[in-house]
Amino acid sequence: MFEWYFGKSFNPEKDIPSLSGKVVLVTGGNAGLGKETVTQLAKHDPEEIFLAARTRSKAEAAIDEIKQAVPNGRVSFLQLDLSSFRSIKDAADQFKARSDRLDILINNAGIMAVPWSKTEDGFEIQFGTNHMGHALFTKLLMPTLLKTAEEEGSDVRVVNLSSEGHQMAPGPGIIYDQAELERWGTWRRYGQAQLANILHARELQRRYPSITATSLHPGVIATNLYDPFGEASSFMRVGKWFMSRLLNDVHWGAKNEMWAATAPKEVVRQTHYWKPIGIKSGGSFWHAQKPELAEQLWTWTENELERHGY
Ligand SMILES: NC(=O)c1ccc[n+]([C@@H]2O[C@H](COP(=O)([O-])OP(=O)(O)OC[C@H]3O[C@@H](n4cnc5c(N)ncnc54)[C@H](OP(=O)(O)O)[C@@H]3O)[C@@H](O)[C@H]2O)c1
Repeated sequence: MFEWYFGKSFNPEKDIPSLSGKVVLVTGGNAGLGKETVTQLAKHDPEEIFLAARTRSKAEAAIDEIKQAVPNGRVSFLQLDLSSFRSIKDAADQFKARSDRLDILINNAGIMAVPWSKTEDGFEIQFGTNHMGHALFTKLLMPTLLKTAEEEGSDVRVVNLSSEGHQMAPGPGIIYDQAELERWGTWRRYGQAQLANILHARELQRRYPSITATSLHPGVIATNLYDPFGEASSFMRVGKWFMSRLLNDVHWGAKNEMWAATAPKEVVRQTHYWKPIGIKSGGSFWHAQKPELAEQLWTWTENELERHGY
């Protein structure tokens, strides 16, 4: 009852089906929602979970913690810095050398409201990390995803983390000119990055019908994502402390991504953007629901990746 408003009930222990034989990859798996997702998925017997993270020491600490909760879990580290195309290519090559299948790719890593800077390849840091990085990573892994999808009974997923913050994207939706983007505030740039995550999933689903691709908002969850607030000023630090009392915890916050990765695909394919948990949305009608914007971003992103040699 009232599921359309409060969301579905989802208990990871009993609602996640067996993942036996499946290979899973979670970006940003060392902290917050990603770490909780890896922990819960590991309990359902996947063949292997690749925990992709940029800092080896953090990843190894997270894997130790996960192994304490799930002693038989098969979780291994994959080095990945999404702000560097070079690192993304290395990560994809590493992954392909270690696994010939990929059933579930969760593009979970992200940053929020950080000061202006650029990725190694010249993109605004939030748009470059959250969208361009994941777009390249997904592209390089696509042959493995498609090969897995050819197998009898397969159920291949790509799940992009986004945010209700996508509604703050600039007026035109996506500002492609990175110098022009610098003139917009950090929240508007975050909005653009999160909108791009939705549009990317939408276009992935359209172009690759043999897999299931979607995106989602996890809720407003107390994680390290809010650290930039604390660094801004002591006033913001106090605000962050008060806010952290009101936010949901990671156990709840990871549920929507686990739901999208494991619920029946006929349901998950119903829309390109879900609110928690399993509430059909579609996102802002002025941007996220525009198929022509999704196609335009896809074409522009492809051109940029090709220009950089990928
Ligand atoms: N928490 C919320 O309220 C909320 C709301 C809406 C959307 N989201 C989305 O949920 C996702 C997970 O965020 P979270 O809340 O769990 O935040 P978090 O605790 O800060 O985790 C973010 C993860 O992304 C990783 N990451 C950041 N930059 C990276 C890079 N360049 N290369 C590789 N990994 C990188 C972080 O690694 P390090 O540990 O090395 O920094 C960390 O593992 C994000 O996409 C975020 O946008 C969260």
